[in-house]
Amino acid sequence: MNNPTGMVALVMAAGKGTRMGSARPKVLHEISGEPLLGFVLSTLGKLRKLGWIDRVIVIVGHGAEQVRNYLHHNWPWAEYVEQMPQLGTGHAVHAAAKALEGFGGTVFILSGDVPLLRVELLQELAEVHRTADAQLTLLTVNNPTPDGYGRILRGLDGKLSGIVEQRDANSSQRAISEINAGIYLAQWPVLQEALGMLGTANDQGEYYLTDAIAHLVRAGQRVATLETNDIAATAGINTRTELVAASAEWRQRVCAYWLNRQVTIEDPASTFIGPRVEIGPDTILEPAVQLHGCTCIGAGCRIGSYTRLVDALIGNEVLIRASDIVESQIGDGTTVGPFARLRDHVVVGEKARIGNFVELKKVQFGDGAKAAHLTYLGDAQIGELANIGCGVVTCNYDGERKHRTIIGPGAFIGTNNTLVAPLEIGQEAYTAAGSTITENVPAKALALGRARQIIKEGWVMRRKNRLTTSRPSEV
Ligand code: UD1
Ligand code: CA
Repeated sequence: MNNPTGMVALVMAAGKGTRMGSARPKVLHEISGEPLLGFVLSTLGKLRKLGWIDRVIVIVGHGAEQVRNYLHHNWPWAEYVEQMPQLGTGHAVHAAAKALEGFGGTVFILSGDVPLLRVELLQELAEVHRTADAQLTLLTVNNPTPDGYGRILRGLDGKLSGIVEQRDANSSQRAISEINAGIYLAQWPVLQEALGMLGTANDQGEYYLTDAIAHLVRAGQRVATLETNDIAATAGINTRTELVAASAEWRQRVCAYWLNRQVTIEDPASTFIGPRVEIGPDTILEPAVQLHGCTCIGAGCRIGSYTRLVDALIGNEVLIRASDIVESQIGDGTTVGPFARLRDHVVVGEKARIGNFVELKKVQFGDGAKAAHLTYLGDAQIGELANIGCGVVTCNYDGERKHRTIIGPGAFIGTNNTLVAPLEIGQEAYTAAGSTITENVPAKALALGRARQIIKEGWVMRRKNRLTTSRPSEV
Protein backbone atom coordinates (compact mmCIF):
# COMPACT_ATOMS: atom_id res chain seq x y z
CA MET A 1 0.00 0.00 0.00
CA ASN A 2 1.20 3.48 -0.78
CA ASN A 3 1.47 6.23 1.74
CA PRO A 4 -1.80 8.12 1.25
CA THR A 5 -0.68 11.50 2.61
CA GLY A 6 2.22 12.75 4.63
CA MET A 7 2.04 11.15 8.06
CA VAL A 8 3.41 12.27 11.40
CA ALA A 9 3.78 9.87 14.33
CA LEU A 10 3.23 11.14 17.86
CA VAL A 11 4.53 9.05 20.73
CA MET A 12 3.10 9.85 24.15
CA ALA A 13 5.94 9.41 26.62
CA ALA A 14 5.48 12.15 29.20
CA GLY A 15 3.61 10.28 31.94
CA LYS A 16 5.13 9.51 35.30
CA GLY A 17 4.22 5.84 35.38
CA THR A 18 3.04 5.96 38.98
CA ARG A 19 2.17 2.26 38.98
CA MET A 20 5.82 1.42 38.23
CA GLY A 21 6.84 2.92 41.58
CA SER A 22 10.12 4.13 40.10
CA ALA A 23 12.30 7.25 40.03
CA ARG A 24 13.07 6.37 36.42
CA PRO A 25 10.54 7.51 33.79
CA LYS A 26 8.38 4.54 32.80
CA VAL A 27 9.27 4.65 29.10
CA LEU A 28 12.97 4.20 30.01
CA HIS A 29 12.40 0.89 31.78
CA GLU A 30 14.08 -1.78 29.69
CA ILE A 31 13.38 -5.04 27.93
CA SER A 32 16.52 -6.81 26.67
CA GLY A 33 18.57 -3.68 27.27
CA GLU A 34 16.28 -1.40 25.27
CA PRO A 35 13.95 1.16 26.88
CA LEU A 36 10.24 0.62 26.17
CA LEU A 37 10.31 3.83 24.13
CA GLY A 38 13.03 2.33 21.92
CA PHE A 39 10.77 -0.54 20.95
CA VAL A 40 8.13 1.90 19.74
CA LEU A 41 10.74 3.95 17.87
CA SER A 42 12.24 0.88 16.27
CA THR A 43 8.79 -0.05 14.93
CA LEU A 44 8.27 3.51 13.70
CA GLY A 45 11.77 3.43 12.21
CA LYS A 46 10.62 0.61 9.93
CA LEU A 47 7.59 2.62 8.78
CA ARG A 48 9.88 5.58 8.27
CA LYS A 49 12.17 3.49 6.07
CA LEU A 50 9.14 2.40 4.05
CA GLY A 51 8.35 6.07 3.48
CA TRP A 52 5.09 5.94 5.43
CA ILE A 53 6.06 8.44 8.07
CA ASP A 54 7.76 11.77 7.56
CA ARG A 55 8.22 12.91 11.14
CA VAL A 56 8.27 11.26 14.55
CA ILE A 57 7.51 13.51 17.51
CA VAL A 58 7.95 12.20 21.03
CA ILE A 59 6.00 13.93 23.78
CA VAL A 60 8.26 14.15 26.82
CA GLY A 61 7.52 15.48 30.30
CA HIS A 62 8.25 13.44 33.38
CA GLY A 63 12.04 12.87 33.45
CA ALA A 64 12.24 14.90 30.22
CA GLU A 65 15.98 15.37 30.41
CA GLN A 66 16.70 11.65 30.68
CA VAL A 67 14.27 10.84 27.87
CA ARG A 68 15.72 13.58 25.65
CA ASN A 69 19.22 12.28 26.31
CA TYR A 70 18.20 8.79 25.31
CA LEU A 71 16.54 10.11 22.12
CA HIS A 72 19.51 12.26 21.26
CA HIS A 73 22.00 9.38 21.53
CA ASN A 74 19.92 6.66 19.90
CA TRP A 75 17.24 8.15 17.65
CA PRO A 76 18.62 11.32 16.11
CA TRP A 77 15.68 11.53 13.70
CA ALA A 78 13.11 11.70 16.49
CA GLU A 79 11.85 15.18 17.41
CA TYR A 80 10.39 15.97 20.79
CA VAL A 81 8.01 18.42 22.39
CA GLU A 82 7.50 19.01 26.09
CA GLN A 83 4.26 18.53 27.98
CA MET A 84 4.51 20.41 31.26
CA PRO A 85 2.71 19.60 33.51
CA GLN A 86 1.27 16.23 32.46
CA LEU A 87 -2.51 16.52 32.53
CA GLY A 88 -3.50 13.37 30.66
CA THR A 89 -3.27 11.74 27.23
CA GLY A 90 -5.51 14.35 25.54
CA HIS A 91 -3.33 17.10 26.94
CA ALA A 92 -0.23 15.18 25.75
CA VAL A 93 -1.37 15.11 22.12
CA HIS A 94 -2.39 18.75 22.36
CA ALA A 95 1.21 19.55 23.39
CA ALA A 96 2.25 18.75 19.80
CA ALA A 97 -0.09 21.40 18.34
CA LYS A 98 2.62 23.98 17.85
CA ALA A 99 4.96 21.51 16.17
CA LEU A 100 2.08 20.54 13.85
CA GLU A 101 0.95 24.06 12.98
CA GLY A 102 -0.47 24.16 9.47
CA PHE A 103 -0.31 20.36 9.12
CA GLY A 104 -3.40 18.98 7.40
CA GLY A 105 -2.49 15.29 7.19
CA THR A 106 -2.75 12.16 9.30
CA VAL A 107 -1.24 11.61 12.72
CA PHE A 108 -0.34 8.21 14.07
CA ILE A 109 -0.68 8.26 17.85
CA LEU A 110 1.15 5.66 19.89
CA SER A 111 2.01 5.17 23.54
CA GLY A 112 5.59 4.90 24.68
CA ASP A 113 4.53 2.10 27.03
CA VAL A 114 3.21 -0.34 24.39
CA PRO A 115 6.47 -1.96 23.28
CA LEU A 116 5.57 -5.08 21.32
CA LEU A 117 3.52 -3.52 18.56
CA ARG A 118 4.03 -5.09 15.17
CA VAL A 119 4.56 -3.07 12.01
CA GLU A 120 1.96 -5.23 10.20
CA LEU A 121 -0.70 -4.27 12.73
CA LEU A 122 -0.01 -0.58 12.16
CA GLN A 123 -0.13 -1.12 8.42
CA GLU A 124 -3.50 -2.87 8.76
CA LEU A 125 -4.77 0.01 10.88
CA ALA A 126 -3.66 2.48 8.21
CA GLU A 127 -5.40 0.41 5.56
CA VAL A 128 -8.67 0.49 7.53
CA HIS A 129 -8.32 4.23 8.07
CA ARG A 130 -7.81 4.81 4.36
CA THR A 131 -10.52 2.52 3.02
CA ALA A 132 -13.07 3.76 5.59
CA ASP A 133 -12.04 7.31 4.73
CA ALA A 134 -12.23 7.87 8.48
CA GLN A 135 -11.40 10.94 10.52
CA LEU A 136 -10.12 8.69 13.28
CA THR A 137 -9.37 4.97 13.46
CA LEU A 138 -8.43 3.13 16.60
CA LEU A 139 -7.10 -0.30 17.38
CA THR A 140 -9.18 -2.37 19.78
CA VAL A 141 -8.30 -5.69 21.35
CA ASN A 142 -10.47 -8.59 22.27
CA ASN A 143 -8.98 -9.24 25.71
CA PRO A 144 -10.66 -11.68 28.11
CA THR A 145 -8.61 -10.22 30.98
CA PRO A 146 -9.18 -6.50 30.29
CA ASP A 147 -8.04 -5.31 33.70
CA GLY A 148 -6.64 -1.78 33.67
CA TYR A 149 -7.59 -0.87 30.10
CA GLY A 150 -10.21 1.51 28.74
CA ARG A 151 -13.32 -0.38 27.60
CA ILE A 152 -14.88 0.13 24.16
CA LEU A 153 -18.52 1.15 24.31
CA ARG A 154 -20.68 0.27 21.31
CA GLY A 155 -24.32 1.10 20.57
CA LEU A 156 -26.97 -1.42 19.60
CA ASP A 157 -25.93 -0.95 15.97
CA GLY A 158 -22.45 -2.14 16.96
CA LYS A 159 -20.94 1.28 16.26
CA LEU A 160 -18.44 2.74 18.66
CA SER A 161 -19.99 5.31 20.95
CA GLY A 162 -17.17 6.00 23.38
CA ILE A 163 -14.40 4.67 25.62
CA VAL A 164 -14.61 4.46 29.37
CA GLU A 165 -11.56 4.06 31.57
CA GLN A 166 -11.68 1.20 34.04
CA ARG A 167 -11.68 3.52 37.05
CA ASP A 168 -14.65 5.45 35.64
CA ALA A 169 -16.55 2.36 34.51
CA ASN A 170 -19.58 0.77 36.14
CA SER A 171 -19.67 -2.99 36.68
CA SER A 172 -21.44 -3.81 33.42
CA GLN A 173 -18.93 -1.67 31.50
CA ARG A 174 -16.08 -3.42 33.30
CA ALA A 175 -17.39 -6.74 32.00
CA ILE A 176 -16.69 -5.61 28.42
CA SER A 177 -13.72 -7.48 26.98
CA GLU A 178 -13.05 -5.22 24.00
CA ILE A 179 -10.40 -2.74 25.09
CA ASN A 180 -8.67 0.34 23.72
CA ALA A 181 -5.06 -0.36 22.69
CA GLY A 182 -4.22 3.34 22.85
CA ILE A 183 -3.14 3.36 19.19
CA TYR A 184 -4.87 5.74 16.81
CA LEU A 185 -4.76 7.28 13.36
CA ALA A 186 -6.49 10.61 12.94
CA GLN A 187 -6.84 13.56 10.59
CA TRP A 188 -5.01 16.18 12.56
CA PRO A 189 -7.23 19.27 12.01
CA VAL A 190 -10.36 17.35 13.06
CA LEU A 191 -8.71 15.77 16.09
CA GLN A 192 -7.20 19.08 17.16
CA GLU A 193 -10.63 20.65 17.22
CA ALA A 194 -11.99 17.80 19.36
CA LEU A 195 -9.05 18.14 21.77
CA GLY A 196 -10.12 21.73 22.38
CA MET A 197 -13.42 20.46 23.77
CA LEU A 198 -11.99 18.14 26.44
CA GLY A 199 -12.84 18.50 30.09
CA THR A 200 -11.51 16.82 33.21
CA ALA A 201 -14.70 15.35 34.71
CA ASN A 202 -13.29 11.92 35.47
CA ASP A 203 -11.79 10.02 38.37
CA GLN A 204 -8.24 11.22 37.65
CA GLY A 205 -9.18 14.81 36.80
CA GLU A 206 -7.24 14.49 33.52
CA TYR A 207 -7.82 15.44 29.89
CA TYR A 208 -8.48 12.05 28.29
CA LEU A 209 -7.62 11.54 24.63
CA THR A 210 -10.33 8.89 24.64
CA ASP A 211 -12.98 11.55 25.32
CA ALA A 212 -12.01 13.29 22.08
CA ILE A 213 -13.13 10.16 20.25
CA ALA A 214 -16.58 10.33 21.83
CA HIS A 215 -16.76 14.00 20.74
CA LEU A 216 -15.99 13.00 17.17
CA VAL A 217 -18.65 10.30 17.20
CA ARG A 218 -21.22 12.76 18.55
CA ALA A 219 -20.26 15.32 15.94
CA GLY A 220 -21.01 12.72 13.25
CA GLN A 221 -17.40 12.25 12.14
CA ARG A 222 -16.39 8.88 10.72
CA VAL A 223 -14.65 6.85 13.43
CA ALA A 224 -13.44 3.38 12.40
CA THR A 225 -12.01 0.53 14.45
CA LEU A 226 -9.77 -2.43 13.78
CA GLU A 227 -10.20 -5.27 16.25
CA THR A 228 -7.33 -7.63 16.91
CA ASN A 229 -6.81 -10.68 19.11
CA ASP A 230 -3.10 -9.98 19.47
CA ILE A 231 -3.02 -9.22 23.18
CA ALA A 232 0.75 -9.39 23.52
CA ALA A 233 1.41 -6.94 20.69
CA THR A 234 -0.90 -4.37 22.23
CA ALA A 235 -0.07 -4.86 25.91
CA GLY A 236 0.59 -1.60 27.78
CA ILE A 237 3.20 -1.75 30.51
CA ASN A 238 2.06 -0.12 33.73
CA THR A 239 3.67 -2.33 36.39
CA ARG A 240 6.91 -4.24 36.86
CA THR A 241 5.01 -7.51 36.68
CA GLU A 242 3.74 -6.50 33.23
CA LEU A 243 7.28 -5.45 32.27
CA VAL A 244 8.67 -8.89 33.07
CA ALA A 245 5.82 -10.62 31.24
CA ALA A 246 6.43 -8.48 28.15
CA SER A 247 10.14 -9.20 28.41
CA ALA A 248 9.51 -12.97 28.36
CA GLU A 249 7.18 -12.56 25.38
CA TRP A 250 9.76 -10.48 23.53
CA ARG A 251 12.57 -12.98 24.17
CA GLN A 252 10.48 -15.76 22.77
CA ARG A 253 9.60 -13.70 19.71
CA VAL A 254 13.03 -12.34 18.93
CA CYS A 255 14.69 -15.74 19.38
CA ALA A 256 12.13 -17.36 17.04
CA TYR A 257 12.90 -14.63 14.50
CA TRP A 258 16.67 -15.26 14.54
CA LEU A 259 16.34 -19.05 14.73
CA ASN A 260 14.46 -18.75 11.44
CA ARG A 261 17.32 -16.75 9.98
CA GLN A 262 20.12 -19.29 10.36
CA VAL A 263 21.25 -18.21 13.81
CA THR A 264 21.73 -20.90 16.47
CA ILE A 265 20.53 -19.84 19.90
CA GLU A 266 21.47 -22.60 22.31
CA ASP A 267 19.24 -21.41 25.14
CA PRO A 268 16.56 -18.90 24.10
CA ALA A 269 15.30 -18.62 27.68
CA SER A 270 18.55 -17.00 28.82
CA THR A 271 19.32 -14.99 25.67
CA PHE A 272 18.50 -11.29 25.57
CA ILE A 273 18.44 -9.66 22.13
CA GLY A 274 17.31 -6.06 21.66
CA PRO A 275 15.09 -4.86 18.81
CA ARG A 276 17.88 -3.07 16.94
CA VAL A 277 20.30 -6.02 16.86
CA GLU A 278 21.38 -7.70 13.59
CA ILE A 279 22.94 -11.18 13.42
CA GLY A 280 24.52 -12.91 10.42
CA PRO A 281 23.87 -16.53 9.36
CA ASP A 282 25.62 -19.45 11.04
CA THR A 283 26.44 -17.44 14.09
CA ILE A 284 26.06 -19.35 17.35
CA LEU A 285 24.87 -17.74 20.56
CA GLU A 286 25.76 -19.76 23.63
CA PRO A 287 23.53 -19.58 26.73
CA ALA A 288 23.27 -16.35 28.75
CA VAL A 289 24.27 -13.85 26.07
CA GLN A 290 23.07 -10.24 26.02
CA LEU A 291 23.00 -8.30 22.76
CA HIS A 292 21.92 -4.71 23.25
CA GLY A 293 21.56 -1.41 21.41
CA CYS A 294 22.73 -1.18 17.79
CA THR A 295 24.81 -4.34 17.95
CA CYS A 296 25.53 -5.98 14.62
CA ILE A 297 27.19 -9.40 14.39
CA GLY A 298 28.51 -10.91 11.17
CA ALA A 299 28.31 -14.48 9.88
CA GLY A 300 29.91 -17.59 11.37
CA CYS A 301 30.67 -16.09 14.77
CA ARG A 302 30.50 -17.79 18.15
CA ILE A 303 29.37 -15.58 21.00
CA GLY A 304 30.23 -17.31 24.25
CA SER A 305 28.23 -17.49 27.45
CA TYR A 306 28.15 -14.40 29.70
CA THR A 307 29.07 -12.07 26.87
CA ARG A 308 27.39 -8.68 26.76
CA LEU A 309 27.59 -6.63 23.57
CA VAL A 310 26.26 -3.06 23.57
CA ASP A 311 26.39 -1.00 20.36
CA ALA A 312 29.09 -3.38 19.11
CA LEU A 313 30.02 -4.05 15.50
CA ILE A 314 31.36 -7.60 15.14
CA GLY A 315 32.80 -8.90 11.84
CA ASN A 316 32.60 -12.43 10.44
CA GLU A 317 34.10 -15.57 12.04
CA VAL A 318 34.75 -13.79 15.32
CA LEU A 319 35.05 -15.82 18.53
CA ILE A 320 34.13 -14.05 21.75
CA ARG A 321 34.22 -15.73 25.15
CA ALA A 322 32.63 -14.28 28.30
CA SER A 323 33.45 -10.64 27.53
CA ASP A 324 31.92 -7.18 27.83
CA ILE A 325 32.12 -5.07 24.69
CA VAL A 326 30.57 -1.61 24.54
CA GLU A 327 30.60 0.88 21.63
CA SER A 328 33.40 -0.99 19.90
CA GLN A 329 34.26 -2.80 16.69
CA ILE A 330 35.90 -6.19 16.10
CA GLY A 331 37.32 -7.26 12.72
CA ASP A 332 36.91 -10.59 10.90
CA GLY A 333 38.58 -13.68 12.35
CA THR A 334 39.55 -12.05 15.65
CA THR A 335 39.25 -13.83 19.01
CA VAL A 336 38.34 -12.07 22.23
CA GLY A 337 38.35 -13.20 25.87
CA PRO A 338 37.56 -14.84 28.12
CA PHE A 339 37.00 -11.90 30.48
CA ALA A 340 37.99 -9.07 28.19
CA ARG A 341 36.48 -5.62 28.51
CA LEU A 342 36.36 -3.27 25.51
CA ARG A 343 34.73 0.13 25.75
CA ASP A 344 34.63 3.66 24.36
CA HIS A 345 35.31 3.25 20.65
CA VAL A 346 37.81 0.44 20.53
CA VAL A 347 38.48 -0.68 16.96
CA VAL A 348 40.13 -4.09 16.67
CA GLY A 349 41.37 -5.20 13.24
CA GLU A 350 41.18 -8.59 11.55
CA LYS A 351 42.70 -11.85 12.85
CA ALA A 352 43.80 -10.11 16.01
CA ARG A 353 43.78 -11.61 19.48
CA ILE A 354 42.51 -10.02 22.65
CA GLY A 355 43.10 -12.52 25.42
CA ASN A 356 41.96 -13.07 28.97
CA PHE A 357 41.68 -10.20 31.45
CA VAL A 358 42.49 -7.55 28.88
CA GLU A 359 40.87 -4.13 29.06
CA LEU A 360 40.91 -1.78 26.10
CA LYS A 361 39.60 1.78 26.11
CA LYS A 362 39.75 4.12 23.09
CA VAL A 363 42.21 1.90 21.25
CA GLN A 364 42.90 1.18 17.60
CA PHE A 365 44.26 -2.33 17.58
CA GLY A 366 45.85 -3.40 14.28
CA ASP A 367 45.31 -6.50 12.14
CA GLY A 368 47.03 -9.58 13.53
CA ALA A 369 48.15 -7.79 16.70
CA LYS A 370 47.98 -9.65 20.02
CA ALA A 371 47.43 -8.81 23.66
CA ALA A 372 47.04 -12.28 25.05
CA HIS A 373 46.81 -11.73 28.80
CA LEU A 374 46.30 -9.33 31.72
CA THR A 375 46.72 -5.97 30.03
CA TYR A 376 45.27 -2.47 30.16
CA LEU A 377 45.56 -0.32 27.06
CA GLY A 378 43.90 3.10 27.10
CA ASP A 379 44.07 5.93 24.52
CA ALA A 380 46.41 3.88 22.37
CA GLN A 381 47.13 2.93 18.81
CA ILE A 382 48.61 -0.52 18.29
CA GLY A 383 50.18 -1.28 14.90
CA GLU A 384 49.47 -4.44 12.95
CA LEU A 385 51.19 -7.64 14.12
CA ALA A 386 52.42 -5.95 17.29
CA ASN A 387 52.73 -8.19 20.33
CA ILE A 388 51.72 -6.85 23.71
CA GLY A 389 53.19 -8.99 26.49
CA CYS A 390 51.41 -10.17 29.61
CA GLY A 391 50.79 -7.47 32.22
CA VAL A 392 51.46 -4.43 30.01
CA VAL A 393 49.84 -1.25 31.28
CA THR A 394 49.55 2.12 29.56
CA CYS A 395 49.78 4.97 32.04
CA ASN A 396 47.45 7.23 30.07
CA TYR A 397 46.22 9.50 32.85
CA ASP A 398 48.33 11.99 34.80
CA GLY A 399 45.52 12.92 37.18
CA GLU A 400 44.34 15.75 34.93
CA ARG A 401 44.63 14.79 31.30
CA LYS A 402 44.73 11.68 29.12
CA HIS A 403 47.77 10.98 26.93
CA ARG A 404 48.25 8.71 23.93
CA THR A 405 50.50 5.73 23.43
CA ILE A 406 51.43 4.79 19.87
CA ILE A 407 52.98 1.41 19.20
CA GLY A 408 54.30 0.76 15.71
CA PRO A 409 53.59 -2.25 13.49
CA GLY A 410 55.40 -5.43 14.51
CA ALA A 411 56.65 -3.95 17.80
CA PHE A 412 57.24 -6.33 20.70
CA ILE A 413 56.30 -5.01 24.13
CA GLY A 414 57.88 -7.14 26.86
CA THR A 415 56.03 -8.68 29.76
CA ASN A 416 54.97 -6.42 32.61
CA ASN A 417 55.90 -3.15 30.90
CA THR A 418 54.68 0.17 32.22
CA LEU A 419 54.23 2.54 29.30
CA VAL A 420 54.15 6.15 30.52
CA ALA A 421 52.23 8.24 27.97
CA PRO A 422 52.62 10.33 25.88
CA LEU A 423 54.79 7.73 24.23
CA GLU A 424 55.71 6.46 20.80
CA ILE A 425 57.32 3.08 20.20
CA GLY A 426 58.62 2.63 16.66
CA GLN A 427 57.99 -0.08 14.11
CA GLU A 428 59.44 -3.49 15.07
CA ALA A 429 61.06 -2.08 18.19
CA TYR A 430 61.49 -4.26 21.30
CA THR A 431 61.10 -3.34 24.92
CA ALA A 432 62.63 -5.57 27.59
CA ALA A 433 60.48 -7.46 30.07
CA GLY A 434 59.72 -5.54 33.27
CA SER A 435 60.58 -2.14 31.78
CA THR A 436 59.13 1.21 32.66
CA ILE A 437 59.22 3.05 29.35
CA THR A 438 59.10 6.83 29.66
CA GLU A 439 60.79 7.94 26.43
CA ASN A 440 60.05 7.30 22.77
CA VAL A 441 61.70 4.20 21.29
CA PRO A 442 62.99 4.42 17.69
CA ALA A 443 62.03 1.81 15.09
CA LYS A 444 63.88 -1.51 15.33
CA ALA A 445 65.60 -0.48 18.61
CA LEU A 446 65.61 -2.29 21.96
CA ALA A 447 64.64 -0.29 25.03
CA LEU A 448 65.49 -1.42 28.56
CA GLY A 449 63.95 0.51 31.39
CA ARG A 450 64.64 -1.49 34.53
CA ALA A 451 67.21 -1.69 37.36
CA ARG A 452 70.17 -3.93 36.55
CA GLN A 453 70.20 -7.16 38.55
CA ILE A 454 72.90 -7.57 41.25
CA ILE A 455 74.13 -10.94 42.61
CA LYS A 456 75.55 -11.16 46.16
CA GLU A 457 77.27 -14.57 46.37
CA GLY A 458 77.09 -16.31 49.80
CA TRP A 459 74.74 -13.64 51.23
CA VAL A 460 72.46 -16.16 52.98
CA MET A 461 75.26 -17.74 55.04
CA ARG A 462 76.69 -14.35 56.03
CA ARG A 463 73.25 -13.26 57.25
CA LYS A 464 72.77 -16.44 59.28
CA ASN A 465 76.13 -15.96 61.00
CA ARG A 466 75.31 -12.35 61.80
CA LEU A 467 72.00 -13.32 63.40
CA THR A 468 73.45 -16.15 65.63
CA THR A 469 76.39 -14.06 67.02
CA SER A 470 74.27 -11.04 67.98
CA ARG A 471 72.51 -10.83 71.42
CA PRO A 472 68.75 -11.68 71.43
CA SER A 473 67.78 -8.06 72.28
CA GLU A 474 69.61 -6.90 69.17
CA VAL A 475 67.88 -9.35 66.89
C1 UD1 B 1 -4.51 4.59 28.20
C2 UD1 B 1 -5.92 4.84 27.66
C3 UD1 B 1 -6.74 3.55 27.79
C4 UD1 B 1 -6.03 2.42 27.06
C5 UD1 B 1 -4.59 2.28 27.50
C6 UD1 B 1 -3.86 1.33 26.55
C7 UD1 B 1 -6.49 7.19 28.09
C8 UD1 B 1 -7.21 8.11 28.96
N1 UD1 B 1 -6.54 5.90 28.41
O1 UD1 B 1 -4.64 4.27 29.57
O2 UD1 B 1 -8.02 3.75 27.27
O3 UD1 B 1 -6.73 1.21 27.26
O4 UD1 B 1 -3.90 3.52 27.46
O5 UD1 B 1 -2.56 1.04 26.99
O6 UD1 B 1 -5.87 7.61 27.13
N2 UD1 B 1 1.09 10.16 28.90
C9 UD1 B 1 1.61 11.40 28.58
N3 UD1 B 1 1.13 12.50 29.25
C10 UD1 B 1 0.18 12.42 30.20
C11 UD1 B 1 -0.34 11.15 30.51
C12 UD1 B 1 0.13 10.03 29.84
O7 UD1 B 1 2.46 11.54 27.72
O8 UD1 B 1 -0.21 13.47 30.73
C13 UD1 B 1 1.64 8.98 28.19
C14 UD1 B 1 2.26 7.96 29.14
O9 UD1 B 1 3.63 8.23 29.32
C15 UD1 B 1 2.02 6.65 28.43
C16 UD1 B 1 0.76 6.92 27.60
O10 UD1 B 1 0.59 8.31 27.55
O11 UD1 B 1 3.08 6.32 27.58
C17 UD1 B 1 -0.49 6.27 28.22
O12 UD1 B 1 -0.67 6.78 29.52
P1 UD1 B 1 -1.12 5.86 30.72
O13 UD1 B 1 -1.24 6.70 31.94
O14 UD1 B 1 -0.27 4.65 30.80
O15 UD1 B 1 -2.60 5.47 30.23
P2 UD1 B 1 -3.42 4.19 30.62
O16 UD1 B 1 -4.00 4.38 31.98
O17 UD1 B 1 -2.64 2.98 30.38
CA1 CA C 1 -0.54 2.54 29.93
